[in-house]
Amino acid sequence: MADKITKIDIITRKTKFDELKEALNEIGIMGMTVTQVLGCGTQKGDVQYYRGVATELKLLPKIKVEIVVCEVPVEKVIEAANAVLRTGEIGDGKIFVYEIQDAIKVRTGARGKEALENE
Ligand SMILES: Nc1ncnc2c1ncn2[C@@H]1O[C@H](COP(=O)(O)OP(=O)(O)OP(=O)(O)O)[C@@H](O)[C@H]1O
Ligand SMILES: [Mg+2]
Repeated sequence: MADKITKIDIITRKTKFDELKEALNEIGIMGMTVTQVLGCGTQKGDVQYYRGVATELKLLPKIKVEIVVCEVPVEKVIEAANAVLRTGEIGDGKIFVYEIQDAIKVRTGARGKEALENE
């Protein structure tokens, strides 16, 4: 199984989801998993300060898009996501990239790269 399979998680503003989905579709992304999540980043969820002390982490609603790719280059996905998501304001989101060991398409038993292809 020489072909490298990669998972990309994009966690960002809910309001950006439609535009992101469109951009991913345009670069040939076939499958994705989307979840509504709660999260915070380095600002601890744009936390309020009380007498100079940060109150507890505030979790904000976000959208998480999980994509597993083989043919589509990872950098292309990152570029497409950045182009849609970057406003320069805090909270634009985070992208995490993982190596995936294998993929199995249950209907056919296809493994690895083939599991991600449209036969
Ligand atoms: N270190 C992390 N580990 C896991 N999830 C994270 C981490 N940082 C951010 N996230 C997730 O990404 C979402 C978006 O984070 P956010 O865009 O605020 O990142 P940031 O690093 O604080 O950048 P910015 O300074 O632009 O706000 C968070 O709500 C959280 O769900
Ligand atoms: Mg933040």
